[in-house]
Amino acid sequence: MSSQDYVRLLDATIQHLERLRSDGVKFLPIAPSTLAALGAPTPKSNDPKSSSTASPKVAPTPATNSPQTRATGTPGRTASPRFPEEMAESFDTAKASLTPSILPISSTPAVLIPTTDVSRPLPPPLEHPGKIAAMHSLRERALACTRCAPLAKARKSVVVGVGDVAARLLFVGEAPGEEEDAQGEPFVGAAGQKLTQIIQAMGLTRETVYIANVLKCRPDTPSQAYGNRKPRPEEMSTCLPYLQEQIEIIQPQVIVALGATAMEGLFGKASVFITKVRGDWQSFRGIPVMPTYHPSYILRNQSLSVKRQVWEDMLAVMERLSLPISDKQRGFFLNPAG
Ligand code: URA
Repeated sequence: MSSQDYVRLLDATIQHLERLRSDGVKFLPIAPSTLAALGAPTPKSNDPKSSSTASPKVAPTPATNSPQTRATGTPGRTASPRFPEEMAESFDTAKASLTPSILPISSTPAVLIPTTDVSRPLPPPLEHPGKIAAMHSLRERALACTRCAPLAKARKSVVVGVGDVAARLLFVGEAPGEEEDAQGEPFVGAAGQKLTQIIQAMGLTRETVYIANVLKCRPDTPSQAYGNRKPRPEEMSTCLPYLQEQIEIIQPQVIVALGATAMEGLFGKASVFITKVRGDWQSFRGIPVMPTYHPSYILRNQSLSVKRQVWEDMLAVMERLSLPISDKQRGFFLNPAG
């Protein structure tokens, strides 16, 4: 395995861990033998046994269990060269073949997002031309924003939002990824395609809803060659006024919060467990909010039950908006053929 492949796997592992944490996963299984091996001193690079072709000395296990990862959520770059082989193993295979001990992933960040006053009433709604003008002004300010200096330096675009400024339905995601940063539009990468499918399955289009993120800039990844990272609480609080202003302008009848980070950003909470809150209506300044899984979670977990859960959340949204629902739509993902 080349060092570039290794870095890509390492980055993918970091990303996977961060996603698990944002999905509310707090523990990972690890074999005692693996734990002991990970605690062993790192072999010197001129040690022939440390070459990437050397046989692993421990049972294949995801490197997500490395001590650095547990401590910080961001493994250092000096990990032992034997890890790539272990990382290449499928998580499921590894999980199934091990007798796990349970170890905590890193704890949630200490920095709290200032609490949003989610009961503050919205201002009187604008007429359509006023909404267009207000969103234009917001866009101009966001495009020039440098409040998060490292993000502003690293970005290709400021990804403000897309859709109808008078939409009845607003989808809120986390932050732009690489594709979104490149194209300047939210949800255009793989997760975006999944979101577009969901919107279309509801009988809507991207043009008739509004799509925005908590963060308008892609979280910078200076220590990663690949993948995205979860926004930091201080980045979310810095950027949140833009989303709040978007909500004041659009005044949608329903907001769909895509994943834990969207909920954390909207409600100013340090840690939300999406598995606990999904499907239960919340209220943001009088607007009903439906929390559901992030589309990237559906991509990672292709199970029928996860798809059905998200779809049930969308059916509830459609009912709330009095959108027509066919029998076919009601039955989506109820059986393997669906
Ligand atoms: N994930 C998000 O949360 N937002 C995007 O715009 C893209 C991926």
